[in-house]
Amino acid sequence: MTDQIQIPETFPDPGAVAGKRVVITGASRGLGSLLAHAFSRAGASVALVARTEKDLKAVAGALPGPSLVLGGDVTDEDFNEAVADAAVAEWGGVDAWICNAGISPIVAAPRQLAASQWRQVLEVNLTGAFLGARAAARVMANGGRLIFTGSVLGERPRRGLIAYNASKAGLVGMAKGLALDLAPAGITVNVVAPGWFDSPLAQGWKDDPGLAAAITGHTAQRRWGAPEDLAGAYQFLASDASAFITGTVVSVDGGYLLT
Ligand SMILES: NC(=O)c1ccc[n+]([C@@H]2O[C@H](COP(=O)([O-])OP(=O)(O)OC[C@H]3O[C@@H](n4cnc5c(N)ncnc54)[C@H](OP(=O)(O)O)[C@@H]3O)[C@@H](O)[C@H]2O)c1
Repeated sequence: MTDQIQIPETFPDPGAVAGKRVVITGASRGLGSLLAHAFSRAGASVALVARTEKDLKAVAGALPGPSLVLGGDVTDEDFNEAVADAAVAEWGGVDAWICNAGISPIVAAPRQLAASQWRQVLEVNLTGAFLGARAAARVMANGGRLIFTGSVLGERPRRGLIAYNASKAGLVGMAKGLALDLAPAGITVNVVAPGWFDSPLAQGWKDDPGLAAAITGHTAQRRWGAPEDLAGAYQFLASDASAFITGTVVSVDGGYLLT
C-alpha cells in the first residue's frame, strides 16, 4: 500500500484525433464544414453528411485527408443506418459521430409558429440527432464518442425561437440519457454548445445591428466566436483524453451564459 497516486507511463494527448474515423452531419457549410477541415487537418478520416451532395463534394475536395461524401436527410432512419454501413464498409468502424445538422427558423410569436414548423425543427435538430446516435451505437463495437451540437440557447432561450430553444434543450436531456444507456458499451455522449459564430444560419443575426449588438453585449468577451475557436472542444471530446467525460455540456461561447 502506497500513499502515492500511481502515475501512468503516458498521458493521452488532449485533442489528438489522427487516425480516428469521424462522421460529421451538417458538413456541407457553416460549422460542420469548419469541423470537417479541423478534423481532416488533424489526421482524421471524415464522412461528410448533408442533403446537398454538390456542396459536400466541394467541402471534400478542399480537405487534405480522406473523406466520404454521403448525401441524405438526417431525419431519415434508413439514411442514418446507411451512413453507418458505408463507414463500416470503408473504414471498418466509426470512432466518433458528430450530430451537427440543424435548422433555426425565426418566428415572431408562439401563435405564429405553425405546428408543421415546430415539428420540422424538432425533427431535424432532435430526432435527426437521435437517429444518428442510434445508428452510431450499432457500429461502435469497441466504444466511441457521440457529440451533439447544442447551443447556448438550449440553456438560455431567446425570443422568437421556441422550437429551436426546445430542440437544443432536448439534446442535453437526450445526451444525458444516452450517456447512461451507452456507458456499458464504452460510448461517451456529450454536447458542445456554441455561442455565436458566423455561418449561413447565423447570418440573419449578424445582419441585424440590434441583434448583433445584443449578442456581443451579452458575451463576456464582447465578440463573436472566431472560426478557430470551435473545433478544439469537439476534438477533445473525440480524443482518448476525454474517456471519463460523459453526459455533459461544453459551452464554447466566450462567456455568453455568464451575463
Ligand atoms: N452558427 C452559430 O452561431 C450556431 C450557434 C449555436 C449552435 N449552432 C448549431 O450548429 C449547427 C450547425 O449550424 P450552422 O450555423 O453551421 O448552420 P448552417 O450553416 O445553416 O448549416 C447547417 C447544416 O446542416 C445541414 N442540414 C440541415 N438540415 C438537414 C437535414 N434535414 N439533413 C441533413 N443535413 C441537414 C445543412 O446542409 P443541407 O442544407 O445541404 O442539408 C448544413 O450543412 C446547428 O445544429 C446549429 O443549431 C450554430
